[in-house]
Amino acid sequence: MPETESAPDGALRASAPRSIMRKIFITGFMGSGKSTVARALAQLRHCAMVDLDEVIAAAEGRSAGTIIEVDGEPRFRELERQALLQVLKTEEDLVVALGGGAWMSETNRQVIKDHNATSVWLDAPFELCWKRIEPLVGQRPLARNKPTALKLFSERTSCYERADLRVSVTEQKSVEEIAAEIDQALTAHPN
Ligand code: S3P
Repeated sequence: MPETESAPDGALRASAPRSIMRKIFITGFMGSGKSTVARALAQLRHCAMVDLDEVIAAAEGRSAGTIIEVDGEPRFRELERQALLQVLKTEEDLVVALGGGAWMSETNRQVIKDHNATSVWLDAPFELCWKRIEPLVGQRPLARNKPTALKLFSERTSCYERADLRVSVTEQKSVEEIAAEIDQALTAHPN
C-alpha cells in the first residue's frame, strides 16, 4: 500500500514509499576480498563504499599495519571501534568493508546489529587468502608468516559464522559474481 501524507490543502495524497536506509558490513579473513567486493556491491546498489581501515588511516595519517606495529593491537582496536561508530552515524546507505579483525569483537558485532545493519561473511579458503596476503605480508603484522596466519584463520572461523549472510569465495568466481550473489541474498534477507 502506498504511504500517504498530508498536503498543505489538507488532502491526503499518495507518496512514494520512503526508502529504507541500509548498511551492509562485509567481513572475512585478510585476503578474502572485502574491499574489492564491497566496492563492486556499492556500485551495484548505487551507494557509497567505505573501507574501515581507510577511515582509520585517514584520521591517523598512518596505515592500519603501522598503527599495530608502533602502538600495538589494543590501540588499533580502539581506533577501529571509534571508526565503526563514526561510520554507523552516517545517515546514508553504505557498504562497509571491515578490517579482518573488527568482527571478532562482541561489542562491534552488537553495535552493528543494534543499527539494523546486515553483516556478510566472505568465506574464502585459507590457501586463497594466504596467496593474496603473502606478497604484502609487511602490511599485515598479524599475519607475518603462514603458520601464524593459519592459526588466526582457524581461531576466527567460528566467529565469522555469526554474520547474517555467508557467501563463498573461490578463485573461479569473479568479484562481480560475488557482489551479485550478495545483492540477491540481501533482497531475500530484509533487515
Ligand atoms: C586485520 C586485518 C587488516 C587490518 C589490520 C588487522 C586483522 O585488514 O584491519 O591489519 O586483524 O585481521 P584486512 O582484513 O583488510 O587486511
